[in-house]
Amino acid sequence: MSKNLILIGFMGVGKGTIARALSKKSGIFAIDTDDLIESLENRKIKNIFKEEGEEYFRELEKKTAKWLEKNVTDTIISTGGGFFKVKNLHKIGKVVYLKSSFEAILKRIKKHPNAKKKLKKRPLLKDLKKAKKLFDTRSVQYEKCADIIIDVEDKEIDKIVKEIMEKAKMEKK
Ligand code: S3P
Repeated sequence: MSKNLILIGFMGVGKGTIARALSKKSGIFAIDTDDLIESLENRKIKNIFKEEGEEYFRELEKKTAKWLEKNVTDTIISTGGGFFKVKNLHKIGKVVYLKSSFEAILKRIKKHPNAKKKLKKRPLLKDLKKAKKLFDTRSVQYEKCADIIIDVEDKEIDKIVKEIMEKAKMEKK
């Protein structure tokens, strides 16, 4: 693998968890765009939204995308749910969409031992009606943008990882 592998999908679908499992299996490092933004800003995403607003955050995503294109290869990159909208996404790497229904995503978040924290750190999940609307719009866009689509609903992590590795032609370590 010399091209990066970019995981996209809705909030809470498991992009970070899957990126780490993929990393373990393949021996390829994984990074996360929200983590990069938090370290660049030295504050949490939810505070960036609160203190600066969403537009400011989207600009940071664009800056991150430019940096990734220029500096990162051979890496698994998990992204925030809206990151896929940056212009140069396909220049950064191969795009893998992790697909699931809204209901399954909510179930996944709620059953997590840290459910409250998971909801709190995501400003756009606060209002579930609005979140569902966003999900419906985004789902169509994710599909259009994807090079590879992986249905992750009700699937074990190991199976998801195996599927991604096969479809993206990655090798085991
Ligand atoms: C967002 C998703 C979040 C984070 C920010 C905005 C979005 O990341 O980037 O709160 O627009 O969908 P996760 O997908 O990791 O929750």
